[in-house]
Amino acid sequence: MLISRAAFLASLFSSLSLAQNAEETNRPRNRRCVVPSSNGTRDDSSGISSVFARCATDSVIVFEEGVNYNVFQPIKATNLSNVEIQMYGNLHLPQNISEVQKIVNGGTSTWFTFKGPRLDWTGPEDVNNGWIHSYGQAWWDANPPNETGIDGRPHLMGYETSQATIKYFRSGKPIAWNMKLHGEDIAVSHAIVDASSTGSFPFNTDAFDVKGTNIRITDSIMYNGDDAIAVGSESHDIVFERNTIGYQSHGMSIGSLGKDASDFANITNLRFEDVTVVDALYAARFKSWVGGQGLVKNVTWKNIRVYNVTFPIFVTQSYYDQSVSRGDVDTESSVMMEDFTWSDFSGSINSYQPGDGSCASDPCWYNSGLSNLQHTEAVIIECNTEKSCKNFVAKNIQLYPQTLEPASVICLNATTELNPNLGFSCSNGTFTSP
Ligand SMILES: *[C@@H]1O[C@H](CO)[C@@H](O)[C@H](O)[C@H]1NC(C)=O
Ligand SMILES: *[C@@H]1O[C@H](CO)[C@@H](O)[C@H](O)[C@H]1NC(C)=O
Ligand SMILES: *[C@@H]1O[C@H](CO)[C@@H](O)[C@H](O)[C@H]1NC(C)=O
Ligand SMILES: *[C@@H]1O[C@H](CO)[C@@H](O)[C@H](O)[C@H]1NC(C)=O
Ligand SMILES: *[C@@H]1O[C@H](CO)[C@@H](O)[C@H](O)[C@H]1NC(C)=O
Ligand SMILES: *[C@@H]1O[C@H](CO)[C@@H](O)[C@H](O)[C@H]1NC(C)=O
Ligand SMILES: *[C@@H]1O[C@H](CO)[C@@H](O)[C@H](O)[C@H]1NC(C)=O
Ligand SMILES: *[C@@H]1O[C@H](CO)[C@@H](O)[C@H](O)[C@H]1NC(C)=O
Ligand SMILES: *[C@@H]1O[C@H](CO)[C@@H](O)[C@H](O)[C@H]1NC(C)=O
Repeated sequence: MLISRAAFLASLFSSLSLAQNAEETNRPRNRRCVVPSSNGTRDDSSGISSVFARCATDSVIVFEEGVNYNVFQPIKATNLSNVEIQMYGNLHLPQNISEVQKIVNGGTSTWFTFKGPRLDWTGPEDVNNGWIHSYGQAWWDANPPNETGIDGRPHLMGYETSQATIKYFRSGKPIAWNMKLHGEDIAVSHAIVDASSTGSFPFNTDAFDVKGTNIRITDSIMYNGDDAIAVGSESHDIVFERNTIGYQSHGMSIGSLGKDASDFANITNLRFEDVTVVDALYAARFKSWVGGQGLVKNVTWKNIRVYNVTFPIFVTQSYYDQSVSRGDVDTESSVMMEDFTWSDFSGSINSYQPGDGSCASDPCWYNSGLSNLQHTEAVIIECNTEKSCKNFVAKNIQLYPQTLEPASVICLNATTELNPNLGFSCSNGTFTSP
């Protein structure tokens, strides 16, 4: 009797709390807050900040269609909850480089910081609206030869949320890093990140730096000069699908991991599928540092179409940077890789103009340790030890060099014992497609 009453109370309590959670999730957004604008005649950032403060919960914040907003100061809204940002207008960062540098060097390194649960971003379908214009071209062109980007560059956006959608996000000429996306249960679709340059190389223009659980990026376009997506630790259940990436993209990347040898990397269940990669340095990439620790498990790149890509499939667990001192690391220690699949790749390897404008050293950072490159390599796999790569599988890799010579492979230490279904022999030489 007593037991069944307790059980009854427990079940009543749990259904009440479920109902409460559902109510939390479905709470209406009662307030509609239209952001005031001078439509391009003054700085609108203090008005924007006060709307984010006033309408921080259960609200819809509207940037109106056809309206320009000058965002000459960073916007920080970290107390948001259940808010939709309707980005139908166009935002403009300052065009004066030294004004931005002054702010960044003063300690604010991110232009837009948004944080809180259920934080949606909705842009318009109309491609003329919903843009953030950062005027990065002038920054890229101001970078002196053989330097890797001028001082005082901001990250465009930090976005940390859960149970959220980001639709029609559009970034035009970001100065550098585009979006740091952290959290769980986030769906990004129809984003455009355009950091293609008419002049100098757009250093560090990563599109999405992702950390979290159950994050999807789909149906998007990213033309830039660094990773289209970089998955960091800790991350689980990440999908990158039906996207087109290119210009001098550094591809669909995991890492870099293990730079801090005490920081145990923990990444599982990644899928990169149905992606077109044009003119990029990498398509599918994994990078970890010598001496790193951790495990990355269950990763698939599938149905990847490449055109004029220098390193379509690239893995290194042996990364180190001579200019970075890390004290003593165990050179036998690696971020372990397990259950990696590359399947259904097709297209061309960049043989004629390999590399990209990010080369600012001799040898280029992307050629280091690869003394005998032919630029016919379909696959480069550099495992740090004979134990650190396990259950790699390559299937239907149909990649041809632009020279129409046979494709080649560089492969170290992915042993047959641990990789019985690798599909090709792990040694340097001609690549025979599995
Ligand atoms: C805002 O300015 C643009 C051009 O600068 C103009 O085309 C547009 O009509 C203006 N919108 C409003 C609502 O005043
Ligand atoms: C965020 O909300 C908390 C509690 O509601 C408050 O104490 C804090 O001042 C707010 N911070 C900002 C930046 O608005
Ligand atoms: C940029 O801003 C600085 C002040 O930070 C000012 O001295 C300079 O004249 C401005 N440059 C232009 C081109 O407006
Ligand atoms: C890795 O992350 C998963 C999910 O958060 C967690 O269950 C697991 O304990 C973590 N592993 C390590 C070694 O930290
Ligand atoms: C591997 O990851 C995929 C998602 O890419 C997931 O569907 C699958 O369940 C995972 N496999 C295991 C064994 O966890
Ligand atoms: C291939 O890509 C490189 C690097 O992005 C570029 O310089 C070159 O013009 C491209 N070549 C072709 C044939 O598209
Ligand atoms: C840039 O680096 C390359 C390769 O190291 C070198 O050939 C070139 O002279 C350097 N240019 C300048 C301006 O330092
Ligand atoms: C294969 O090529 C790599 C990269 O150039 C090189 O470090 C390695 O020594 C080569 N392996 C053999 C067995 O020649
Ligand atoms: C990994 O491969 C390199 C190059 O073939 C070799 O020198 C090294 O001994 C290998 N390391 C282990 C632990 O097998």
